[in-house]
Amino acid sequence: MRTLIKHALAASEPKDNLIIKGWVRTRRDLKGFSFLELNDGSCLANLQVIVDADRPGYEQMPRLTTGASAVIEGSLVASQGSGQKWEMRASRVTLIGESDAAYPLQKKGHSLEFLRTISHLRPRSNLFGAVFRTRSRLAFAVHQFFQERDFVYVHTPIITASDCEGAGEMFRVTALKGNVDEKPEEDFFGKRTYLTVSGQLEGETFACALSNIYTFGPTFRAENSNTARHAAEFWMIEPEMAFCDLQGDMDLGEAFIKSMAKYTLEHCAEDLALFAKFVDKEVISRLQFVVDRPFQRVPYTEAVEILKKSGKKFEFPVEYGQNLQSEHERFLTEQHFKCPVTVFNYPREVKPFYMRLNDDAKTVTAMDILVPGIGEVIGGAQREERLDQLRENMRYHKLNEADYWWYVDLRRYGTVPHAGFGVGFERLLMFLSGVGNIRDVVPFARTPGSADF
Ligand code: 4AD
Ligand code: MG
Repeated sequence: MRTLIKHALAASEPKDNLIIKGWVRTRRDLKGFSFLELNDGSCLANLQVIVDADRPGYEQMPRLTTGASAVIEGSLVASQGSGQKWEMRASRVTLIGESDAAYPLQKKGHSLEFLRTISHLRPRSNLFGAVFRTRSRLAFAVHQFFQERDFVYVHTPIITASDCEGAGEMFRVTALKGNVDEKPEEDFFGKRTYLTVSGQLEGETFACALSNIYTFGPTFRAENSNTARHAAEFWMIEPEMAFCDLQGDMDLGEAFIKSMAKYTLEHCAEDLALFAKFVDKEVISRLQFVVDRPFQRVPYTEAVEILKKSGKKFEFPVEYGQNLQSEHERFLTEQHFKCPVTVFNYPREVKPFYMRLNDDAKTVTAMDILVPGIGEVIGGAQREERLDQLRENMRYHKLNEADYWWYVDLRRYGTVPHAGFGVGFERLLMFLSGVGNIRDVVPFARTPGSADF
């Protein structure tokens, strides 16, 4: 039975008859024996293996180069060297797969840009091993957070006919050849269909039956913004709560961010220490700060005043009635408040049709949660639950009510105040790890002009 290196290194006593399988990180040959550093991805640390020259398989040693795979049998013994508790004394070494001299991940540090060009190999580097172990643990933490609060996990469709955000950033899905716009009624689904930009509308239907639900799935946006924070394919988590207003929505969003920060500190410590060393020195203290301190809440109108009074030259001017740009968001959270900020009650014209119109008839119950280093990580709202007002919102946003008949039905049969939000899972990971580019927290990034691997 194979033992993972992470379990071997966590042992409380020496062990015989251990079988370890992994990839060689480095090898050093000395007189009469060799050192191997083996990694199997189960944790950041390598296992140091000592192979005496008289052991079976030692003759393969020259072929155990960086990147080669091997099986080591032997004993776990207290390490003589400093820096680690355990090492392995091999009784037998078996080379599984050679790795030739062209293996691009030699010991020296590589740039993130270079590593993106070898996305199929970069999980074998320390940094990306850490990123993707953290991603996996946080996916679990997301489910745990909602399941513990009695939220029901709903799989909303990936192919859809409705544009939730109304931003026209959808990828078309078609089985037609030639001119796809000529006869959409002859297409596979009998109408124009797209990859989803959000599972919210379908999520609302389930919240209006099961009370508290969440989605967690792939999301697609054809927005041509080549930034460090936008991907064409990303994962979104979307909770939706019946009998909930904007306050309850903000409460949940803030509790969620705090909980994820706490989980990372507690369950990803080894990988987090690597992020602190190589990508963001502040990451641990920032997460601790987020866990300990309340978020700042500020209405959009006040946020605009703060930005105008700041005297700072922004690339995009600040105007009431315009969406906040990421430079504005980052000024608020990084420089003005110096903590996560929840901005709420945005002007109606910059937000989608489904948000609830406030009594001032100018703003809607939107809320965005902004965090340092990223800007917006959560976008959400209390939804328009009044039938007549929803219809008016649709006219205002020039939507065809017939396309949304089932969504409108929710307001006809037992309507309730309800609210929810969307979290970009990759943006959350960037915030929690300090990794600065969204391309480096996705296994295989999909961005404008790039769909390799
Ligand atoms: O603010 P957004 O557009 O909100 C919605 O889609 C709502 N329907 C959510 C809801 O209320 N259920 O997107 C939500 C979040 C953003 O705050 C951001 O974190 C992430 O999704 N996001 C992206 N992440 C990566 N790449 C992109 N192109 C993203 N667009 C949005
Ligand atoms: Mg948004």
